[in-house]
Amino acid sequence: MDALQKFSLAGKTVLITGASSGIGEHLARLAAQAGALVVLGARRIERLEKIAQDIQWLGGEALAVALDVTDRSSVEAAFHAAEAHFGVVEVVLNNAGVGNGRRALEISEDEWRAMLSTNLDGVWRVAQCAAQRLVKAGRGGSIVNVASILGLRVGNGYSHYCAAKAGVVQLTKSLALELARHQIRVNAIAPGYFKTEMNDAYFDCDKGQAYIRDAVPMRRLGLRQELDGPFLLLASEAGSFMTGEVMAVDGGHLLSTL
Ligand code: NAI
Repeated sequence: MDALQKFSLAGKTVLITGASSGIGEHLARLAAQAGALVVLGARRIERLEKIAQDIQWLGGEALAVALDVTDRSSVEAAFHAAEAHFGVVEVVLNNAGVGNGRRALEISEDEWRAMLSTNLDGVWRVAQCAAQRLVKAGRGGSIVNVASILGLRVGNGYSHYCAAKAGVVQLTKSLALELARHQIRVNAIAPGYFKTEMNDAYFDCDKGQAYIRDAVPMRRLGLRQELDGPFLLLASEAGSFMTGEVMAVDGGHLLSTL
C-alpha cells in the first residue's frame, strides 16, 4: 500500500454522531469522499436524510439513522441499523456535543447534568458500544473523540463544558490503554474555535471577532477543512501506531501568552 492510499477509508463503515450540522456534517461528507460507507447519526433525521441524499448523489454511500447519544437504547439501535446495512462499524467519530455557556455561579443541577450527559456520558456510551461490537466481531477499529481545547485549558463561563471535555481527554487515554490489545485505537481531536451553529452568534459579533484576533496566535477562526487531515490520519491506516493521542487543531490557541 503506498503512503497516500493509507489515508483511504474505502469500504470501511464509519459512524459519525452529531452529523446533522457543523463539524460532524463536514467530516461525514469528507469520509464519503475518502470511500467510507458513512452512517450519519443525530436526532434531526430529516436533516440527516438530506445530507445522505447529497452524498449518494455525488456517488458516495450513506445511511441516516436517528441517534440520541444520551439514550443507550437509541445508541444500540443505531449501531444495529449500521451493521445491518453496511457491516460492523470500524470507525467512529464521537462528535455530538452541546456548548452553551453559563457562569459557574448560575449553573443549575439540570444544566450541569445535561452538559455531562451529552458531552461526556454520550462519548463513553458510543465508544463502549462500538468497542463491544468490534471485540465480538474479532475486528480492530478506530474511535476518534471530539474533545476541545477547553478540555486542556479553561475559559470563563464554561466550567461544565471544560469538565466534560477534560473527561473526554482522560476517557480517550484510558480506553486507548484497555483496547489496544483488541487492535482498537482511541484518539481525540481537540479543536480550537470553528464557526458552527454552536457559536455563530458570538463569532458574528464584534466582541467575538476581537477575541479571536487577540487570543489566537494565527488571528483567525479555523476552517472546517482544516480538520480533514487530522481526522483522516486518526481514522485510517495512516495512524495505525497512534493511540491515546489528543491532537489540538487550534491555530496555536493553546500556546497563547499568559
Ligand atoms: P454543532 O452544534 O453544529 O454540532 C453538534 C451536533 O451534535 C449537532 O448536529 C447536534 O444536533 C448534535 N447533538 C447534540 N446533542 C446530541 C445528542 N444528544 N445526540 C445526538 N446528537 C446530538 O456544533 P459543532 O461545533 O459542529 O460541534 C461538534 C463537536 O465539536 C462538539 O462536540 C463540540 O463540543 C466540539 N467542538 C467545537 C468547537 C467549535 O469551535 N465549533 C470547538 C471545540 C470543540
